[in-house]
Amino acid sequence: MAARSIIIDCDPGQDDAVALFLAMSSPEELDILGICTVAGNVPLGLTQRNARMMCDIAGRDDVPVFAGCERPMVLDAITAEYIHGNTGIDGTEVFEPETPLQEQDAVDYIVETLLGAEDDSITLVPTGPLTNVGTAIEREPAVLRKIEAIVLMGGAMREGGNRSPSAEFNMLVDPHAAEIVFGCGRPITAMGLDVTHQVLATRERVARIGALGNPVAEATAGMLSFFHRYDTKKYGSEGAPLHDPCTVAWLLQPELFETRACNIAVETKSKLTMGHTAVDFWHVTDRPHNALWTYGVDAGGFYELLTDRLARFGG
Ligand code: BDR
Ligand code: CA
Repeated sequence: MAARSIIIDCDPGQDDAVALFLAMSSPEELDILGICTVAGNVPLGLTQRNARMMCDIAGRDDVPVFAGCERPMVLDAITAEYIHGNTGIDGTEVFEPETPLQEQDAVDYIVETLLGAEDDSITLVPTGPLTNVGTAIEREPAVLRKIEAIVLMGGAMREGGNRSPSAEFNMLVDPHAAEIVFGCGRPITAMGLDVTHQVLATRERVARIGALGNPVAEATAGMLSFFHRYDTKKYGSEGAPLHDPCTVAWLLQPELFETRACNIAVETKSKLTMGHTAVDFWHVTDRPHNALWTYGVDAGGFYELLTDRLARFGG
């Protein structure tokens, strides 16, 4: 089967970085047309630099990297240095990457690439705030029929919020963009905190990755060791949740996950619950299904997949 064409839209972030590595490890299944970056965990100047660093580390300077929106569609920017460190990727050594930054703006790239594609042919994989994707859809609705699927990290139902009591970070940062995406009518799979909080990067799992000994595995282990500190303290868990790579794992091995078709709506008005995802899991409204909500995962299988794929960078 031909590799699936994807555009990754991210805000690295340690877990975004691991999602990029997982995608780059799997060229038979995933053809990465481009990597778009957005302001999120840290400002845009750092997220684009971090994405290019990951291309260097993985030896994939052939993948074009674009910078997009510097701030959310309506609200002021929120960042998360207190989790990710000032670089966004604390835990690995920072350097000036050779992978160039493309001149074209990420939103223009998304619009142009989709308009030039066959219908239903490109999958979008957003792992940060949805600003670039929401802006592209708003600017040029004709892109929609080109989208095969959107597999995104964002939202929370049973777990509650991680950046406010009711909202997950990516949804809280740009709820207006999220509202556009969930209303777009294309097939969506949402990886929210209910599932990402099940894939814990325990010390044992991180050590197995580090022991692979290749540059990608070592960078991953370094970043996950840093990530470990904040989340284990906050949640009292055995490891930090590895949010963003769930999107790529779903594309590679969907059988690892349990999903349910739901309606998902995003709060954009209430100050108190801004960015909350109202997931109609029990179908208590007549709102139509607009997404698959992911609620279960084989965490052991997920780490087997990740470890096996990162081993590929060793030769
Ligand atoms: C999401 O927010 C960011 O901190 C992570 O990179 C992930 O995309 C989790 O809420
Ligand atoms: Ca992210």
